[in-house]
Amino acid sequence: ELGDFDHYMLKEIYEQPRALAATFNATAGHEIADSAFGEGAADIFDRVEAVQIVACGTSFHSGMVARYWLEELAGIPCEVEVASEFRYRKRVQHPGTLLLTISQSGETADTLAALRDAGADDFVGSLVIANVDNSSLVRESDLVFLTRAGTEIGVASTKAFTTQLVALLMFTVALGRRNGMAAEKQQELVNALQKLPDFVQQTLELDADIKQLSEAFIPKHHSLFLGRGIHYPVAMEGALKLKEISYIHAEAYPAGELKHGPLALVDDDMPVVAVAPGDELLEKLKSNLEEVRSRGGELFVFADRQAGFISEPRIKVLPMPHCPEVAKPIVYTVALQLLSYHVAVQKGTDVDKPRNLAKSVTVE
Ligand code: F6R
Repeated sequence: ELGDFDHYMLKEIYEQPRALAATFNATAGHEIADSAFGEGAADIFDRVEAVQIVACGTSFHSGMVARYWLEELAGIPCEVEVASEFRYRKRVQHPGTLLLTISQSGETADTLAALRDAGADDFVGSLVIANVDNSSLVRESDLVFLTRAGTEIGVASTKAFTTQLVALLMFTVALGRRNGMAAEKQQELVNALQKLPDFVQQTLELDADIKQLSEAFIPKHHSLFLGRGIHYPVAMEGALKLKEISYIHAEAYPAGELKHGPLALVDDDMPVVAVAPGDELLEKLKSNLEEVRSRGGELFVFADRQAGFISEPRIKVLPMPHCPEVAKPIVYTVALQLLSYHVAVQKGTDVDKPRNLAKSVTVE
């Protein structure tokens, strides 16, 4: 089953180009038909004025990414919350809200409870993005989009996350076209989704470079992951992967928050990873990064190869494939998956079955 791979996690990381393509191709003719989300999707989508996303862990991070897409590209207000918080607090519900749960397993107890409890509320409907057909969330939601990641065995979620992002971008297009998204914009997003497997493949080809970069993390006990805007949740996902499988404490911060506290932690024992593609936030992030370096910190910058970042003492740059903005959260996540993987393997941890964790969290 493992073929040439040492671990399921690595195999699953490498399956991503195929899994992403399969997920995108799930909708006939690349039209992103409403019917891809299940029977009755068109009627429910017509009534959606806001989206409430509920999920846990890595799936929560994909929801965090989707919030940027839904608000920026589709003009739809979106809230995202971890299920264990959502279900236990008294909420004020905007009318016209769709409840969107995201789950690889479709069985996560808190997410399922959130869906069940929300039944009494005035949602226009529920949609689940899940990877396991006939799972509880799939059975109990009004609408379903199944990611085509295939079985994910590694406890640390990889291909499930990136295929969720494909589904979420397709969902953004489906809502966006009801909300004035220009036909050219829709086409641009579809084109980006079509080319995505190539960009991910190019990222996998950086594996040896990422492995080399990973060596600096082996003796460390702590690390910071920084990102801005849509790349903040990508940093969160990168940090979660590193802590789960390498047991190195990793914390993600929005880059602008650095000087409001965590900068005090930075010294030569605290590597800082920056997710810094060549977007409009790059200049600001550069000045944040300068603060870290001047305090003896070592920086590892994942940047678009066209962004003009070059390695210098204490700053290692990993030049990433140049790709459309919407592809970046997925492409950069793949690089961070490889980083965590290589750190963990070199530390000798049980990569596919990290201590204390279960693949499917069916109890609270
Ligand atoms: C992290 C990880 C977990 C899951 C979380 C939700 O790598 O795998 O954080 O993402 O337990 O699981 P699902 O997506 O099955 O609801």
